[in-house]
Amino acid sequence: MKISALDLKKQISPIRGEIDSAIKDVIDNAGFVLGTGVGKFEENSAKYCGVKYAIGVSNGTDAIALSLLALGIKPEDGVICPAFTYYATAGAVAGIGAVPIFADIDKDTYNISLQSVEKILSGKNKLKIKAVIPVHLYGACADMGGILKLARKYKLKVVEDAAQAFGAEFKGRKAGTIGDCGAVSFYPGKNLGAFGDAGLILTNKKSVAERLIILRNQGNKNKYYHLLLGRNNRLDTIQAAVLDVKLKYLDLWNKKRQEVAQYYNCNLKGINIKRPYVSGYTTHIYHQYVLRAPFLNKGIVEYLQAKGIDSRVFYPLPLHLQKCFKYLGYKKGDLPEAENAARHTFTLPIYPELTRKELDYIIQSVKEKING
Ligand SMILES: Cc1ncc(COP(=O)(O)O)c(C=O)c1O
Repeated sequence: MKISALDLKKQISPIRGEIDSAIKDVIDNAGFVLGTGVGKFEENSAKYCGVKYAIGVSNGTDAIALSLLALGIKPEDGVICPAFTYYATAGAVAGIGAVPIFADIDKDTYNISLQSVEKILSGKNKLKIKAVIPVHLYGACADMGGILKLARKYKLKVVEDAAQAFGAEFKGRKAGTIGDCGAVSFYPGKNLGAFGDAGLILTNKKSVAERLIILRNQGNKNKYYHLLLGRNNRLDTIQAAVLDVKLKYLDLWNKKRQEVAQYYNCNLKGINIKRPYVSGYTTHIYHQYVLRAPFLNKGIVEYLQAKGIDSRVFYPLPLHLQKCFKYLGYKKGDLPEAENAARHTFTLPIYPELTRKELDYIIQSVKEKING
């Protein structure tokens, strides 16, 4: 059997007619960048998230970078983010000239550790630390209550990296709507994926939203009059049109992912493996279904791959040990939980269209390897 990590063709096929017609409308109207479809999608996603402003941008990385810029983060400011996340979280920080400061993660949730953040903030810092980026990794929210408390105490801006968690909820509030800004990615493989790159910024703050609208479009307030040092981070109308069609199905797809996760959870009970831990304050939309093996993940990933199952490691090397961040001066052992997670965690395929037969085959294969 061959089971991919994700099968977008199966997702698109039943809604193909709707999507084709939405794309045709964009072509007919020929407003390809920030056209009317962008405004419509922004409105619908703001409504979906229960937030005042949703601003469409080019991708999730730019959503983080623009949020930081709009909140006044400057070159050489320190920005705390977890070491165990996708590169883009810290890449966006470094990209605007600010300095990533890596925090360790909680060993159960894989999200940023409040103790680690507080340790950084209460220690001696060469840099002025101005912001924190909690990442809602794999589709479950970080402890935003704790993050907001620390942010108030140390006067930090909060940019939620909700790239993997669009639709997840922290105590009934949508991921990305709790901090000063929330950054969302619609990379095709995300739970809500575009047909290319796309992203969104969520905020309840009018002044921040106004700055974001200017910053994403070359700093233009009125055409050819540039108020701010902006960038070209606009959202394509075709992407917005595709996303607007797919948004209607997101809750159903997320529910199906939760059912797949539940099936895995039930059937992997009793074997020597750590299943996903979901804190009481968050829902989990299972962008990834992540297990922790008692041994190095390499062995089990190779075993599953050999059986045709596309298991992966997100992420095999924490950011503080990446070559590109060597200049920050971290070394092995500095952030042990991030390093442990990188060595022991691995994913199982998760998407709404997986069949019972495929799931049983995956479960059987995991058991074979774990039980030896
Ligand atoms: C946690 C996290 N942050 C940021 C990003 C960046 O999003 P994009 O690929 O849309 O730039 C991603 C996407 O892969 C992500 O998973």
